[in-house]
Amino acid sequence: MRGRFWLLSAILVACAVAAGVWFITAPERFGSSKEAVSDTAGDVEHGKLVFAAGDCASCHASPGQSDRLRLGGGLALASPYGTFRAPNISTHRIDGIGNWTAQDLANALLRGVSPDGSHYYPVFPYASFTHMRPDDVRDLMAYLRTLPAVKGRPPNHELNPVFGIRRFVGFWKMLYFKPGPIAPDPAHDEKWNRGRYLSEALAHCVECHSSRDIFGGIKASTRYAGGPDPVGTGFYPNITAARLGDWSKAQLAAMLKTGITPNHGRVGSSMAGVVTNTAMLPESDREAIAAFVKSLPARPTPNP
Ligand code: HEC
Ligand code: HEC
Repeated sequence: MRGRFWLLSAILVACAVAAGVWFITAPERFGSSKEAVSDTAGDVEHGKLVFAAGDCASCHASPGQSDRLRLGGGLALASPYGTFRAPNISTHRIDGIGNWTAQDLANALLRGVSPDGSHYYPVFPYASFTHMRPDDVRDLMAYLRTLPAVKGRPPNHELNPVFGIRRFVGFWKMLYFKPGPIAPDPAHDEKWNRGRYLSEALAHCVECHSSRDIFGGIKASTRYAGGPDPVGTGFYPNITAARLGDWSKAQLAAMLKTGITPNHGRVGSSMAGVVTNTAMLPESDREAIAAFVKSLPARPTPNP
């Protein structure tokens, strides 16, 4: 009898824990109907700039062809958790996001939640995109709708089985995901605030130029101070004053247009893709990014 009682209690406790886990890891969607993102009012020209600033093509353009507007996906993104594949986000109705509403896109970018209500993996840098203004999401959707439909779905992610359970991303979100807009800082001028918005909400510079802990969260003390790339074969440079101290704002803005650095030639690897995009922005936006980045406090480069 006693044995049965304990067994029953243990089962009940396990169920309660499981229900608790299920509850606290639940995906949260963006906004109420009041905050709904319009499907019709989007400004295509502005959406094109949002797309460039967000560096979307660097991950979602189909590899092996030169048209950065064919968003068929397929790029393999290696990580300690396995290999992710960027999905098809073209206007194809079945293989891409041709059937999505602007609100679906807002849920993906601002909350990391899919139309069917599951979590996205944070390799899709929504921890940064969450700071986007809903109007920018609306314009981005209007622009995405002008791009060609690309047929075909990339292969699935190949992840370590533990990480295959999307629901567990809810734990990651509890630890590291701070959804919502970034309030303008009145201590700085408009240009700096624009630069901060572009850098932190759209261009997600910090997602690469930082070190991560074992759960893949950015270590706060290393923000912008660089660190090993996800598979530890390369190193993202420190872009705080500790390394960029001798760059002028003008030199940094120029690099974001030409890729040419004041001290060692031309940036390569994934930064070359970033520059392809920042080069499309208005000069004033590159100057704004430079104003923000040059104001970052010097932080020591973490040891790899
Ligand atoms: C670092 C690479 C990277 C960048 C940059 C990036 N994405 Fe993604 N994106 C991904 C990956 C990987 C996924 C798949 C995530 C998953 O399966 O959980 C994804 C998922 C998505 C999805 C969901 C697609 C679906 O079928 O459910 C959309 C929409 C999307 N991204 C749009 C964008 C837009 C718009 C931008 C630019 C503002 C962007 N992404 C920038 C890598 C990226
Ligand atoms: C997808 C990852 C990625 C993103 C996003 C990214 N960078 Fe980089 N960045 C790199 C890599 C990799 C390098 C090193 C390039 C090389 O080896 O030539 C680099 C180099 C640089 C350098 C040159 C540093 C030096 O010492 O030569 C600067 C400055 C820089 N990035 C600024 C930025 C800014 C500002 C942003 C946001 C607007 C940004 N990066 C976004 C990956 C990234």
